[in-house]
Order: sequence, then structure tokens, then C-alpha cells
Amino acid sequence: MEPTVAVIGATGAVGDVFLRVAAERRLPMKKLRLLASARSAGKILQYAGQDIVVEETTEAALEDVDLVFCAASSDIARHWAPWLRERGKMLIDKSSAFRQDPTVPLVIPEVNGDDLESHTGIAATPNCTTTPMAIALNAMRQVTPLKRVTVATYQAVSGTGADAVEEMNAQVSAIGRGEAIAAPQVYPVQIAGNVLPHVDDFVADEDDYTKEELKMRNETRRILHAPDLPLAATCVRVPVAVGHAEVVHVEFGAPYEMADLHRALQAQPGLELLTDPQKYVTPLEIAGDDRTFVCRLRPDRTVEYGVTFWCLTDNLRKGAALNAIQIAEELLKRDLLKR
Ligand SMILES: NC(=O)c1ccc[n+]([C@@H]2O[C@H](COP(=O)([O-])OP(=O)(O)OC[C@H]3O[C@@H](n4cnc5c(N)ncnc54)[C@H](OP(=O)(O)O)[C@@H]3O)[C@@H](O)[C@H]2O)c1
Repeated sequence: MEPTVAVIGATGAVGDVFLRVAAERRLPMKKLRLLASARSAGKILQYAGQDIVVEETTEAALEDVDLVFCAASSDIARHWAPWLRERGKMLIDKSSAFRQDPTVPLVIPEVNGDDLESHTGIAATPNCTTTPMAIALNAMRQVTPLKRVTVATYQAVSGTGADAVEEMNAQVSAIGRGEAIAAPQVYPVQIAGNVLPHVDDFVADEDDYTKEELKMRNETRRILHAPDLPLAATCVRVPVAVGHAEVVHVEFGAPYEMADLHRALQAQPGLELLTDPQKYVTPLEIAGDDRTFVCRLRPDRTVEYGVTFWCLTDNLRKGAALNAIQIAEELLKRDLLKR
């Protein structure tokens, strides 16, 4: 059965990429409804060369829908989830609302697709920084056990949403014209020509890590089924439009051969390894690509058995829209859409 599909948040940064990726992959669907806030009702968006009118997100607009992708805030996902669940509609949510809910599988299909078997009407996609690192760690742990992970991120502004990209571009233009920069609305300080060691809110009773840093730890543990994995993250926003990059240090619990790590990374679906540690790709080069890249993989000799590497992916594609679409494809393949 081809589902009737709705996208809540179709006008946003993730919604926009969702429409392109779904068309490229020919996501099976009978009909597509594009939903957003009342502000966007009546706007026209394109899907596979076809004009579709955006509607306000209402019960009436969702009544005939089988599968809902939510690319809006956590509050909106929390608002609609019970209503959708009660009516047997499947929700694939891109926000953080349900990522730590034990009844909701948090899934990267090529890592833990089997977790979808236990869904009860909602599946969550991980944070855009968690996904590339979890894919790489999943490959490495096939060779030798993970003992401890530390990571520093270099995150693109599109990870914050469409408003953040506009703000950065306006600041860049003002700098180019030699004009004064308007007071920042999205970030606490100017992002153009700057770097912010601050992504999402600080959490005072979690040692002042940010929510984003805690998401990286908690989501990776859930995806890898490694509830005690020690993992410390520092998340940093950089003035890049698209593409989240990370420097990851992994300490293993047992010896490894680099050739075995190479083989495991090359065998991991969705991952591209650049085996020459002097070769690398940058966010600008991988924007629009569906793969996660691992580069500059080399030993970390500060620990007994360890490596460090540069890892990156397009935050809007594999970090959000593509992963959600792959979850839908997996649900359809396993005939799990209807519970
Ligand atoms: N950006 C990323 O790299 C990324 C990666 C992974 C996950 N996510 C998550 O994906 C979600 C969307 O992020 P984004 O970056 O696309 O944000 P965004 O660009 O700010 O877009 C937000 C979307 O939500 C819609 N919306 C706002 N109020 C609404 C309402 N009351 N009812 C229905 N829709 C409403 C907006 O519609 P209007 O245009 O009408 O306001 C817009 O389409 C967030 O939860 C985010 O954390 C983002």
C-alpha cells in the first residue's frame, strides 16, 4: 500500500531538503500534503516538478494521512504525536522530542534498523551531529570494543534552521559592503567571521554541558545499545552554511589493526573512508552528498589503543531529511507502517 504522506514544517530548512530527497529517491506515496504554520498557508512549494499549496497544520489536514514527517520544533511534535498515535498514523520525527523515550526507536537504518520492529507509532531521527559519528563508531566497534569517546564539532548554521542561514548571509553582506551589522536575533553574538562554543542551551545540573552535547552522548548510547559508553562532546557553531564536521577521538578496549578498521569502515553502508590520512574533504565539498565521510584516520598514541579522525556529513540530508526518508523506506520494506 502506498501511504498518503504529510510533512509538517515543509517550509523550513529540513522541509526544503526533504522535498528534494524524497523526489530523488521516489519515496512511494499516494498523495503528499505540505503543512506548516498558519503564516505559510497558501504558499506554493514544488515537489517533483509539481506545485503543491502549503496548508496550515490542522486535524482536518492530517485526517486522511498515513505517514507524517515532522520537521518542526519539539513542541509541535509533542502536540501532534498523541493525536496521530491514537489514529494509527505513523510519525517520523526529526526533533528531539522523543529521542530519549524508551517506547520510541531512535534509528539510523544502516546501524540499528532492527529497532524499528518495536515501534508503537513513532520513530525518531537522531540529532544531525550524532548521526555521522554513530555511523563511524558502529563500523569501528565491529573490530574492537569502544572504551571512551571525545568529540569536538564544527557545526553549520543551517543546523539551527532557515532563519540562521539568513542571519549569517545578511552579516556577510554587511561586512562586504563595509556596513554596520544589525543586532543578532538567532545567535547570542555575530556568527559571520566568528566561532561560537555554544550550541543549544546550557544545562546547569549536567556540569554546564549544552543540550546539544548531551544529545550527542545520550543518543549515541541509545543507537549503539551502549548505555554506559563514556562520551564527552564540545559542540561549536562555525560560519558555514551546510555540513557538520567533527574531530573524534576514540579509545578502544583492545588492540586493533588499522587495516581492519579500514575494512570495517569500507563495509559500513552510507560511509566513505578516505584511507590516505593526508587526504580530506570539507563541508563545502560534501554539501548535497548523502554519504558520511571519515578522513584523516590515524592512531591516537596518547592512549593505549586509540584513533582520531575527521568525520562529516550534510546535516540537512543524512543529518535530518535523508535519514527520516530512509526510516520510512525501512518501515515500508519491513511492512511496519501500520501497527
Ligand atoms: N537543520 C538541521 O540540520 C536539523 C537536523 C536535524 C534535526 N533538525 C530538527 O528538525 C526540525 C526542523 O528544523 P529546521 O532547521 O528545518 O527549522 P526551520 O527552518 O526553523 O523550520 C521550522 C518549520 O516549522 C514550521 N512551523 C513553525 N510553527 C509551526 C506550527 N505552529 N505548526 C506547524 N509548523 C510550524 C515552520 O513553518 P513556517 O514557515 O510557517 O513558520 C517551518 O516550516 C527541528 O526540530 C530541528 O531541531 C534540524
